[in-house]
Amino acid sequence: MSEQENVPDKLPTHIAVIMDGNGRWAEAKGLPRTAGHRAGAEAVRAVTTECRALGIRHLTLYTFSSENWGRPVTELRELFSLLREFLGREVPLMKEKNITLKVLGELADLPPSVRQIVKQSIKRTAGGTEMTLNLALNYGGRAELARAARALLREGASQEDVNEESLSARLYTAGQPDPDLLIRTGGEQRLSNYLLYQCAYTELYFTPVLWPDFREQDLYLAITAYKARSRRFGKI
Ligand code: IPE
Ligand code: IPE
Ligand code: MG
Repeated sequence: MSEQENVPDKLPTHIAVIMDGNGRWAEAKGLPRTAGHRAGAEAVRAVTTECRALGIRHLTLYTFSSENWGRPVTELRELFSLLREFLGREVPLMKEKNITLKVLGELADLPPSVRQIVKQSIKRTAGGTEMTLNLALNYGGRAELARAARALLREGASQEDVNEESLSARLYTAGQPDPDLLIRTGGEQRLSNYLLYQCAYTELYFTPVLWPDFREQDLYLAITAYKARSRRFGKI
């Protein structure tokens, strides 16, 4: 591969985001943490709209991790209520913009009211051809891998049947390309159990900007940084 080909001068096909910093954003303003989550929903809309306009084909947002169950019940309640509100408001727009909504994560453990609107939203946006918006919801990377292994066992897979292709076909992201770029807001530099398998060769971008403040300009900065990276995939 020539040096020229190593440079990803084209846009990422798939961007994954760890939307972190909502609580700190709110606390800095003397507001309850939930105000940060509400403001974060505005950033979700701005980033989704801009990615769609730029022609990014896949966007995956870390919305609720399997570890987030450890938060106070009041915060959990507010998060789920915001999610219902968000889907109710945004799904018609997604449909209009030809965006397919998918959910990565264990739906069965979510409150029934959330499960219902999530299922409805997936159904209503099915077939959108311009972009896939994945919400990682009750998602954990390790649990996802264990689930894929269980699926193979259930299917009676033999040793030879267990390989990278058969495993990735049983992940929530089956059929979608791996993220090219992972953006984490809020200043922490870790994966927090996000897309562990899929991010094997993803370019990582960390920014101190808190998620509720993240807007188009911040997205351009991340994409510009991505474009300057040399992706070698183990080669020279
Ligand atoms: C991310 O913001 C949103 C969720 C995890 C649901 P946080 O709520 O983690 O905000 P900080 O990290 O405490 O500031
Ligand atoms: C990651 O953020 C999860 C989401 C953004 C949904 P956390 O705030 O939960 O991550 P940690 O606890 O700082 O690793
Ligand atoms: Mg956090």
